Amino acid sequence: MKIFVDSANLAEIEEALARGFAAGITTNPSLLAREERTDFTEHIHRIIALVRRYGREIPLSVEVFVEDPAEMLDQALKFVAAFRYPALSVKVPVGWDELRVIAELRRRDILVNCTCCMSLNQAYMAALAGANYVSLFYNRIRDTGYDARAVVAETVRVFRQGGISTEVIVGSIRHLQDVNEAMVAGADIVTVPSKFFRPMTEHAKTTEAVQQFLAEFRRWSGR
Ligand code: E4P
Repeated sequence: MKIFVDSANLAEIEEALARGFAAGITTNPSLLAREERTDFTEHIHRIIALVRRYGREIPLSVEVFVEDPAEMLDQALKFVAAFRYPALSVKVPVGWDELRVIAELRRRDILVNCTCCMSLNQAYMAALAGANYVSLFYNRIRDTGYDARAVVAETVRVFRQGGISTEVIVGSIRHLQDVNEAMVAGADIVTVPSKFFRPMTEHAKTTEAVQQFLAEFRRWSGR
């Protein structure tokens, strides 16, 4: 299972790249809107330049920010032309008319992350339309009273049984525990807000063990 960074913040992305665990980056219009106001295209170029500085062209998802399907397609093609980044995935929200956008992008060999999926049937339809990734929104599913862990597990199972190669991304992570649950449910990828990365490396007993080893060694060595 891969970990993606769910952020449009350069410093947060760099913290993850520098530690080697980031296998991809997901952005969305809301995440971009949390950054200091700047030119959208310039900001994505800065993310791409940062990723390239670390020498790995990892997947980067950038979401369309228009509602009309024809405009979505047009915007997606502009992203591809502007960013010239082979691992770019255009994020398209799931929906009836949006499936046409997904299918057309795939016909043109453009990678697609079908986003805002809340159910197995949505994820399945997106996969059949050719999406390379489907993004299931863990806590937004929970907000509706459904068992998000079961939705992830069922989607992964149905994809595997059907020989569907679309990767299941779990997003909308709000608690550290969600990451573990998504992993156990079989997600291919969990995209995680950066505030959870440090806690994912920490444990009180680890700190205790390291402190004990150092203290005992110092006493023994007289240093
Ligand atoms: C990831 O691809 C999503 O855009 C993101 O995780 C959504 O998270 P939210 O439900 O906290 O907005």
